[in-house]
Amino acid sequence: MTSHDDPSAAGTAAQGDLGPAGRAAADLATDHLAGVGDGPVWRPVPDADREWLVGQELPAAGRPLDAILDDVRTRVLPYPMGNGHPRFFGWVNSAPSPAGVLVAAPAAALNPSCAGGEHAGVLLERTVVRWLAALTGYPHPPGGGLLTSGASMATVVALAAARQRAARLDGWDVREDGLYGRRPMTVYMSAEGHGCLRKAVELLGLGRRSLRVVPVDAGFRMDVAALREAVARDIQAGALPLCVAASAGTVNTGAVDPLGDVADVAAEHGMWFHVDGAYGALGVLAPRAASRYAGMERADSLALDPHKWLGVPVDCGCVLFRDPGPVRDAFSLVPAYLRDDDADGLGWLAEYGPEQTRPFRALRAWATISHLGREGIADLVGHCSRLARTLAAMVDAAGDFERLAPVTTSVTAFRYRPAPDRDDGLDVLNRALPGLVRRRGRAFLTGTRIGGVEALRACFLNRETTTDDLAVLLDEIRAAAGEAGRTAPAEPNG
Ligand SMILES: Cc1ncc(COP(=O)(O)O)c(C=O)c1O
Repeated sequence: MTSHDDPSAAGTAAQGDLGPAGRAAADLATDHLAGVGDGPVWRPVPDADREWLVGQELPAAGRPLDAILDDVRTRVLPYPMGNGHPRFFGWVNSAPSPAGVLVAAPAAALNPSCAGGEHAGVLLERTVVRWLAALTGYPHPPGGGLLTSGASMATVVALAAARQRAARLDGWDVREDGLYGRRPMTVYMSAEGHGCLRKAVELLGLGRRSLRVVPVDAGFRMDVAALREAVARDIQAGALPLCVAASAGTVNTGAVDPLGDVADVAAEHGMWFHVDGAYGALGVLAPRAASRYAGMERADSLALDPHKWLGVPVDCGCVLFRDPGPVRDAFSLVPAYLRDDDADGLGWLAEYGPEQTRPFRALRAWATISHLGREGIADLVGHCSRLARTLAAMVDAAGDFERLAPVTTSVTAFRYRPAPDRDDGLDVLNRALPGLVRRRGRAFLTGTRIGGVEALRACFLNRETTTDDLAVLLDEIRAAAGEAGRTAPAEPNG
């Protein structure tokens, strides 16, 4: 009898002795982390490796693990996105926490679905969610939150709960009745709010026409007087104001909306108050910024991303709820094949969101928070916030840069402006700079539009970044601008 015919042989034949390959895989990960700061932040993928990455044939027969690990070493690890490097300042992408990396393989080895049931994955998720609430000063009723793929999904969950609660209060059930024929439910976000809010509004069938984009003040914070006017206009027109979504750390400038004032408007009109703290909620741990966050604890839902400032390896988002009732009402569906007669009163986590099979995100988050502790997390947040202020001061002191926004959290928004009295070509130049800087390989930042002009923004999330790295960043921008000047044709007026 061959091993194919012998069912008892199947397990051992498939797994073999994983020890040597497992240790080699762990070495690959730890060697990569140890050397990440020595290489370029980012490099283009040469044609041969690009061809290999996108164009491989499906293997007919399986390949040995050591050959696969060799491919990872030579073809995958050399081409990172860049976010592990101390001079990566793009978007809101952090370096992975070492503890999170180390437990990624054990989590996969256990491979539970964290939909529900009684096992370590589900139980640990309850602790992680409670810890995240404690870190951000948010109330935590039992069952008041769950981990998600990221803040985009957290926002969908939050707005779905808001929609269901508003419908119930209005005497109907959105799950049963749908939205057809109902008065529009309006959602309010600031002009600096994240695009995931728009996506959630569209996905939930509320329609972009029901989204009100409230202007911001000079500090890029929601203009609360304008919010009040927009709500009043909508009530007058017969709409049902559903939700106001404020930001605790916008992606462009890191601004924190006046959360207490927004909470007041929400309370006056019975609206759901959502806070997008995907990037910035942990900024509340920085003593200088903490008072800005007053009112965050009044939110009906708070989205925050452990895979951002905390550095939990992707993916790990989170949504916290003041009252889990409307969330369960919006999602719970327990067919006979999923019933669990042993479940406690909170039921399954899958009853609080759209995902059924749910990954074991909690182990990466738990290990990260355990390793840093509250003090380590506060230190990380303080360090990154100081870097943003230091870069702002360097920009202010330099004759060839201009700052575009105040620093509240750990984002510095600015632009290159070599001749202070001239604006021509500035937008074209600043639009080109992030790509040029990135290709030089010594720093990585991304661009955006702020206050109607092309802007550069640097977001700090990495404990390993130093003030020397900031000087390198500014010099790299200058060098890239020099390259642009040498290669670009004459620019039209900016
Ligand atoms: C302020 C803010 N909100 C929401 C999101 C969306 O989060 P995710 O990419 O985890 O879905 C981001 C992502 O950068 C963000 O910065």
